[in-house]
Amino acid sequence: MTWRESFPILKAHPDLIYLDHAATAQKPQVVIDRMTAWYETENASPNRGAYGLSASATITYENAREAVLKFIDAGKDATAVFTKNATEALNLVAYAYPFKPGDEIVVAISAHHSVIVPLQIAAKRTGAVLKYLYVDGVHGDFSEQMLAVIGPKTRLVALPLIDNALGVLYDVETVVKKARQHGAAVLVDAAQAVGHRPVSMQKLDADFLVFSGHKMYGPQGIGVLAAKYEQLEQMTPFLAGGDMIAYVTEQSTTYAPIPKRFEAGTQNVGGAVGLDAAIQWIDAQGIERIAEHEAAMTRYALLRLSEHPAVTVLGPKLTMERGALVSFEVEGIHPHDMATLLDQNGIAIRAGHHCCQPYMHHLDKAGTCRASFSAFTEERDIDALIMGIDHARKVFGYDRS
Ligand SMILES: Cc1ncc(COP(=O)(O)O)c(C=O)c1O
Repeated sequence: MTWRESFPILKAHPDLIYLDHAATAQKPQVVIDRMTAWYETENASPNRGAYGLSASATITYENAREAVLKFIDAGKDATAVFTKNATEALNLVAYAYPFKPGDEIVVAISAHHSVIVPLQIAAKRTGAVLKYLYVDGVHGDFSEQMLAVIGPKTRLVALPLIDNALGVLYDVETVVKKARQHGAAVLVDAAQAVGHRPVSMQKLDADFLVFSGHKMYGPQGIGVLAAKYEQLEQMTPFLAGGDMIAYVTEQSTTYAPIPKRFEAGTQNVGGAVGLDAAIQWIDAQGIERIAEHEAAMTRYALLRLSEHPAVTVLGPKLTMERGALVSFEVEGIHPHDMATLLDQNGIAIRAGHHCCQPYMHHLDKAGTCRASFSAFTEERDIDALIMGIDHARKVFGYDRS
């Protein structure tokens, strides 16, 4: 079966040119089938019942956790908390991390709003100070001068592994080394990386690694906060309720062990099952093979877009310095108009600030067009994008040159 044949959405929409994988990935049939089987034959509440179906649900859920930990090479010092998406995982850290007045939180300017806004709120609530690690939108490495913002008062540094606006791949290891010199923890937002390329939490030496299931062929509604135990141990629960407790008295509660302490209420077992199935699908394809294919598509898109006289490509020039997405501007056409006109030709891209308004402001851009790729992207999708751009230019009264 080809990669394209694995995705039923392409059967339902044979003419769809889907270039918005960075927003959400499409789902292989096996993931959908596994989730259907879960709901048809296995559904029960985990952790609670004394009966067989519930006990199996607990095992299935914990197997999914193990699969996630293995997939990101978390190592024995880390565990995974299931959340509803990357955003909830990021909010969990921002809310539960024990910041004190005067502590400094350093966040990359290229971070998604789901990193920046929770940390802004955390800083206001705790009296911590939010500082920015400024990047230039082209390079993913960091000079000592850039890293000087990380200092003795820094408690947490947060940055994407790959940013979703321009697709820059960052040298996280260097940031981690600098943070370690000052005893600061590092949170890596890997939402645009996991499922696209091999990601090793141990190799990155990240304290926290977050991602969403739906961006890596899994279902919407399941995300992951992978974290070192030593970090989670100093954090109080973000949400409270059933399942996260060991013992509750009238006035106080002892909490369940980590990671359950951070998973209050009935969990999205169907989502975890789907994520596990997505991991199995990726493993069966080979993550290296997917990464190579996406790099080839990115290289082709960079080539085709850069040779277009009306297009300006943003971000790194080289494929090896970026993720599987390309942001670009088309002379004379606002990104939103571009996306609307492309949609008329069945081409789905993303346009706008990409939930990165501080980054856009820093780069002095109102927004960009973004095409993003996955396993089922083919060169003809990118050819269609180029034709769509030409068509839009004609609609706006320009010719190709
Ligand atoms: C880099 C990055 N971080 C975080 C998020 C938030 O993910 P979610 O909306 O699944 O919580 C996104 C989604 O676009 C993203 O691209």
